[in-house]
Amino acid sequence: MESTTSKKPGQVSDLLNKINESATLAMARLSREMAQQGMDIVSLSLGEPDFDTPDFIKQAAIEALQNNITHYPPVNGFLDVRKAIAEKFKRDNGLTYSPEEIVVSTGAKQAIANAIYALVNPGDEVVMPSPFWVSYAELVKLVGGIPVLINAKVENDFKVTPTQLRDAINERTKLIIYSSPCNPTGSVYSREELEAFASIILEKPDLYVISDEIYELINFSGRTASIAAIEGMFDRTITVNGVSKAFAMTGWRIGYIGAPKWIADACSKMQGQITSGANTIAQMAAKAAVSADPSVVSEMIEVFRSRRDLVHQLLQEIPGLKINLPEGAFYFFPDVSYYFGKTDGETTIQNATDLCQFMLRKELVAVVTGDAFGDENCLRISYAASEDILRDAMRRIKSALAQLH
Ligand SMILES: Cc1ncc(COP(=O)(O)O)c(C=O)c1O
Repeated sequence: MESTTSKKPGQVSDLLNKINESATLAMARLSREMAQQGMDIVSLSLGEPDFDTPDFIKQAAIEALQNNITHYPPVNGFLDVRKAIAEKFKRDNGLTYSPEEIVVSTGAKQAIANAIYALVNPGDEVVMPSPFWVSYAELVKLVGGIPVLINAKVENDFKVTPTQLRDAINERTKLIIYSSPCNPTGSVYSREELEAFASIILEKPDLYVISDEIYELINFSGRTASIAAIEGMFDRTITVNGVSKAFAMTGWRIGYIGAPKWIADACSKMQGQITSGANTIAQMAAKAAVSADPSVVSEMIEVFRSRRDLVHQLLQEIPGLKINLPEGAFYFFPDVSYYFGKTDGETTIQNATDLCQFMLRKELVAVVTGDAFGDENCLRISYAASEDILRDAMRRIKSALAQLH
């Protein structure tokens, strides 16, 4: 009998063929495989804190297990978890959502996917300031929507202007998506900047915003601004947040939205057919996280700030890189186009993807090409790693680049 492992693969759907694999996950997988082969890889490719989940959060999960909170939850999340999230929105963002306007999902990623699936029709345009987080464009493509990128460059701190936003919007535009603090650039939009965007959005009926605030607490600017808190915007905004980044809970997979009830209901309907709701134990852990005073993570944020300063200093010592000073999240997004056309005698670097592969091959250091984030001149470097690892990685990057002439 023929072994099943020797069978040729079948045809995947046209839908699947429309989307790209997550570049960050692909690079993380490649560097993990190389490490498993015994290579001394330093990977700054993944976006997750290298800290442990705080004990009080783990304790809440243990109690949830002991109390047998292990059955199907309500699709949109336990009521007491949604109430705790509503309190968090009031406390930190000046937003008054009722528990019916909140949906708890399997990570902020599912929260965003739900909202896109719930709102976007085939042919609808979805505007995103670029660089943008990798999954936005792919999720939009999955539903037949058209991602429309507005290019922001390092010279403008990777921020788009109100004029650029106005020029990108037309009668087919359904949604605008951005993250602030931004993955991959660390840029943070101020309240004034968001007010200028809001006045443009409010000129158009039936235009909505996904404001991805997952890095809200990893913010060194001292300012947080939620666009939903600007007059007129509450009914137009899906505010996305979650516990993955600020509470070092990436593996717990809990994210959430606050949104007008009709959108929350639509997201819940979508989720009901896909996951039936988020993991019960993780929901109780997330309740403990969002109920705590944000100062519980201020030590971690300070560590990120000093790493940011260290990497900023080390990157400035490398010739040819153009960088901004990120105000939040834990990434640098240097423009590396200075190295395009240069060679080590064997390989000629044409673009950022070539450069990533060159650095991985020559110095065993993994970062992600900016291509996947909408800017092929840049690389994304995550600084969610210890200072020793960061120094080692920066030395390797410098040494790889020094081989190019
Ligand atoms: C901007 C942004 N939004 C959403 C997510 C997804 O978060 P989660 O892990 O909660 O799904 C990430 C994770 O990398 C992110 O960087």
